Amino acid sequence: MTMENAPVQTWSAATYDANARFVSDLAEGIFEWLAPRPGERILDLGCGDGVLTQRIAAAGSEVTGLDSSIDFVRAATSRGIDARLGDGMALDFDGEFDAVFSNAALHWMRDAEAVATGVRRALKRGGRFVGEFGGHGNVAALRTALAALAPRFGVSPSLADPWYFPTPEGYRTLLEGAGFEVARCVLVPRPTLLPETGLKGWIETFMTPYLAEAGSARSSVLEAAETLLAPILRDDKGVWTADYIRLRFEAYAI
Ligand code: BEZ
Repeated sequence: MTMENAPVQTWSAATYDANARFVSDLAEGIFEWLAPRPGERILDLGCGDGVLTQRIAAAGSEVTGLDSSIDFVRAATSRGIDARLGDGMALDFDGEFDAVFSNAALHWMRDAEAVATGVRRALKRGGRFVGEFGGHGNVAALRTALAALAPRFGVSPSLADPWYFPTPEGYRTLLEGAGFEVARCVLVPRPTLLPETGLKGWIETFMTPYLAEAGSARSSVLEAAETLLAPILRDDKGVWTADYIRLRFEAYAI
């Protein structure tokens, strides 16, 4: 399978709600870094289903959400958010925002230079770019296991690792190159308890291209991943913990 016809990640707001609510529930730290103020114009880049966007709006900010998934845009709109369908790697805003915020979305946008350039253009001078996403070493056990299983199920190993997880040094350099002064940029290890849907729910939510390529072997893949990862990520009560490492940053448009 070539890159041109490789399956792409797809999102369902309902599946996300069942398997990944922890994503917005665990955003307290980065929300505090953003510290939205009344009257500010803020872009929530990769707003997902809009649950966190609503919190920003509740602080009195004027928020626009942007996401590349129509199902997420509909879910966010139903929450009263001004949500737009768009590609974070091709932003076309110009000097409009006091802040651009992003939680758990930037690792999906592999052309990080295009994202940073577009965010810089979207911000007013002095505006801030505050975000959190997967950092270097994120979900390493998961990625290693799914890469090891790929040949057995006829899946391209690259589909086990479709994300951008930079080091803080690398991301700082990239932001500086795009016209930012970086105030903070750090890795935050955050082992993350998964809901009852466990590892299978995680893979079904976040690795749709991998499962699409596995085709009829889908349930065998999920079983094999559980068998391989249970000794590392499942405790004696059957609870799964994903090996998340976040990269958290705050940068200013100069
Ligand atoms: C993350 O939030 O770090 C993440 C989510 C899904 C897949 C990979 C990473």
